[in-house]
Amino acid sequence: MNANKHMIHILSENAQIPIEAGQTVLEALIGVGIFLRTDCGGKGSCGKCRVSVVAGTPERVAAPDESEIKILGRSALSDGVRLACRLKISGDITLDIPETSRLSAEVAQKGLPTLIDKLTALKPAPSGRPDSYGLAVDLGTTTIAVYLCNLGTATVTASTSARNPQTLFGDDVMSRISAIRMDPTLLARQQNMAVRAIEWGVTSLCRSTRIDPRKIKTMVVVGNSTMIHIFAGKNPSSIGVFPYTPQFVAQKTLRATSIGFRFNPDSQIRTLPLITGFIGADIVGAALATELSHTEPGTMLVDVGTNGEIMYLGKDGLSATSCATGPAFEGAAISHGMHAVSGAIDAVKIDKSSGGAFCSLIQQDPAQPKMPAGLCGTGVISTVAELYRAGLILKDGAFDRKAGSPYLRLDANQSPEYIVVPAEKTQDGRPVTFSQKDVRAIQLAKGALRTGIDLLCQEAGRQRPAKLLVAGAFGSFINKKDALKIGMFPPIPEDDIEVVGNAAGAGAILALFDKNMLTRANELTRATRVLDLATHPDFQETFINALAFPDQ
Ligand code: FES
Repeated sequence: MNANKHMIHILSENAQIPIEAGQTVLEALIGVGIFLRTDCGGKGSCGKCRVSVVAGTPERVAAPDESEIKILGRSALSDGVRLACRLKISGDITLDIPETSRLSAEVAQKGLPTLIDKLTALKPAPSGRPDSYGLAVDLGTTTIAVYLCNLGTATVTASTSARNPQTLFGDDVMSRISAIRMDPTLLARQQNMAVRAIEWGVTSLCRSTRIDPRKIKTMVVVGNSTMIHIFAGKNPSSIGVFPYTPQFVAQKTLRATSIGFRFNPDSQIRTLPLITGFIGADIVGAALATELSHTEPGTMLVDVGTNGEIMYLGKDGLSATSCATGPAFEGAAISHGMHAVSGAIDAVKIDKSSGGAFCSLIQQDPAQPKMPAGLCGTGVISTVAELYRAGLILKDGAFDRKAGSPYLRLDANQSPEYIVVPAEKTQDGRPVTFSQKDVRAIQLAKGALRTGIDLLCQEAGRQRPAKLLVAGAFGSFINKKDALKIGMFPPIPEDDIEVVGNAAGAGAILALFDKNMLTRANELTRATRVLDLATHPDFQETFINALAFPDQ
């Protein structure tokens, strides 16, 4: 046996999978399309990726580090339980993967595009045989949405979504680009991770609908420019350094087999065109699905994700920009942030007199309710809005140490934090807290988004948009009042803000049904003027102003 390669025998699948020296067990599993829960993105802090080493001498298994010991405890460790994201081996082993560690189709729903209803009006007449299928994929930095569509009836048969396993290389596109810059072999690894995750979605959709995957003839993929580069096997390094130029912007046509898909090697894949290194095929898809070019001038489309992409229709046409919002809106980079799965707090109400919080929880299976475990993206925004409403944080975002609330305390670094849920009421016996650092992360994210919105309006000679279309996985569930409260959006009437769900995914579906949409996408990208925020003379001042919360 090659000393740099070992084998893992997976008990339940009775399969042998290879693992390279230096790889974690989690990476090896992802490489063959076995997905585990990785709520913390492989950082060893969520404890969700547990596996059991059931055979293999102890010297073949690296010793646990301090954080693994803390999360698992000595007793579980002595039973062979380990965190797959931390586990490295130096010899062949046998693993058992408990069901609770596996990613199930329900755990990471990106949400159906709310535009699906509208698609009925927009979509072309059905074409193709009634049993021919296609896939629309929204390859997000955090979440990958897969829509299985019947081309014969032009309908969406089923959909699912999964966490993008590339988060092992960082939550945002810059971390993934820099990983590839440091080690170009990681391009193929990240590409393979995306392909395996999409294929995992295909397998679970085809299994639940009893559709033969070989009937999937075509696929349309949207995503930000970095995701599309990695998916197509093109090095995205140039996007990571000034002047952030992508290697290509035109739509790509690929054969499934050429990038490692196994379900139907003959499938043809098309990606929508990009506009710049940071204005990608996702906002192009969203603009197609919302028919932005044909709406009232003054309409702005905002795709809220790890990277905020904004497109605006002014009197003299379309313009676009992008801003680095980071992953905070999705609950990542927040101390108790988590994905929108069971046990996640999605809304908070702070009682002004007691200072305590009432929380609404996501429960995917009401028969098996989960205790609070953390805050998903909307829960995070809700917490900040409520802390501000209740006077526990000030206009500049600092906790009001004079507020005297029993729910405010100092953390280990003597920095204030708010107890959202006390320890005795949570899933893991640790309190769900919201720290000063968390408030700052949200201020930076909303400040970046708001700067993009304000400067795009300013360039078009307006103070604010007449109408705001909010797209993206996070945008699908956003509470408009909370978003307005913290100044994430400009002060416009709530009724002028329309949540359009995963519009990028809807755009991919449309392009799957109608090839003319590709022509429209190309026209749209050519007609869009790009505003570069980084070099804008008013960027600094606008950004600093956007960090504070609006007057109450
Ligand atoms: S502990 Fe979170 S993914 Fe392993």
